Amino acid sequence: MVENIEYEEALKKLKKYGQEHILCRYEYLDDERKEKIINQIKNIDFDSLIDLFNVTNKSIKKLEGNVTNIDFVDKEKLTKEEYETYYNIGKKEIEQGKYAVLTMAGGQGTRLGCVAPKGTFKIGGGIEKSLFEVLSETIKEAKNKFNARIPWYIMTSRENNSATEKFFEKNDFFGMPYEDVKFFKQGELPMLDFNGKLILDETGIIKLASDGHGGVFESLDKNGYIEDMKRRGIEWVFISGVDNVLAGLVDPIAVGLAIKEGTLATGKSVVKRSPDEQVGVFCKKNGRPYVIEYTEITEEMANARNEEGELLYGESHILTNLFNIKAIEDIAQNKLPYHKAKKKAKYMDENGEIIKPENPNAYKYEKFIFDAFESLDNMSILRVKREDEFAPLKNSDGEDSPDTARDLYIDFLKRKEKGLIK
Ligand code: UTP
Repeated sequence: MVENIEYEEALKKLKKYGQEHILCRYEYLDDERKEKIINQIKNIDFDSLIDLFNVTNKSIKKLEGNVTNIDFVDKEKLTKEEYETYYNIGKKEIEQGKYAVLTMAGGQGTRLGCVAPKGTFKIGGGIEKSLFEVLSETIKEAKNKFNARIPWYIMTSRENNSATEKFFEKNDFFGMPYEDVKFFKQGELPMLDFNGKLILDETGIIKLASDGHGGVFESLDKNGYIEDMKRRGIEWVFISGVDNVLAGLVDPIAVGLAIKEGTLATGKSVVKRSPDEQVGVFCKKNGRPYVIEYTEITEEMANARNEEGELLYGESHILTNLFNIKAIEDIAQNKLPYHKAKKKAKYMDENGEIIKPENPNAYKYEKFIFDAFESLDNMSILRVKREDEFAPLKNSDGEDSPDTARDLYIDFLKRKEKGLIK
């Protein structure tokens, strides 16, 4: 039960920030939701939230600083000797149980239009496997190959955590040891309408949204999983999204490269298809690793080529990165910046009606994992073949859809069967 005094304090706090409208449905809420919304109000740091609204509203992000291209190693062009050197270094780490996989599965999958967690989505067309199952197979295969224990950490959101856990239980953890699959929820922030006002979710409490894949480091830390990794002797964590069917989750070359180059991270890249492809690319900014987003890159840079005729800024970031545990610990202590994204957010209006907007109506605030790169002194970049390691599933049809991901997956399996994949 909410005490009157608690309600009054919440109202006072809201009035200070011009947000008292958010209690307009309070009297219609049941006790549980009354308690929830009062707790939400107690916990929101309104000064920071309003700052965020004002700062991110100011301008479009412009590229500043001294930007140069970044060195990379092309996996395909390694000599036999180089390949074996990196491979053997990495293999040893994996065999010694120092390697873990982390899958970020806290997104909403709005473009794909799935209501259930995206990882439960089946790619279909004869492949009746969910994304989680496909990823679990990649891990299990590596476990057998290296005869190693490879724990799997899965970042979920408040919205999809319980459905994700239930899905794993129903599928008997896809044969992974139960104690080696760990779920943790990512952080959340309130959404704001275009006037900086809080909105209600469909149940009448404050609408929150997950804080982006860059929230992974802080959430790992908050949930005690950095400690868990250290206890297990984990040195290397491969972090990627749930929606890349071909993600090379266990890669000795990526580890070997980082160790040989003395870096604390390896980012995998694929060659940008054309100067105007809408992807972020690896580069260096003021001497540190950085990803320039497609909205930031100038036409001149996008078209610049080296002596061999390759794009100078052509190493696309595909959200498949390996981090050393020390880097993860450090990044978790640094606050990454927030970016705003316009979203169509379902909400409850002051009359209790649920509104499903046709156009974006609210801002979601997100951190991006690649903003963490700037805090590293250096980073290794490993160029991999697109057709071997990148089959994203973003849209319900067209590009990067179940159809394209499935075709790439089937083609990969065929080549693998013929022994054409290293
Ligand atoms: P996307 O940015 O493509 O988002 O996430 P999404 O949620 O999958 O899809 P849309 O934009 O709503 O259509 C890339 C990866 O990062 C994870 C996603 O689950 C996906 O694996 N992610 C994204 C999170 O874990 N948390 C987030 O807050 C955002």
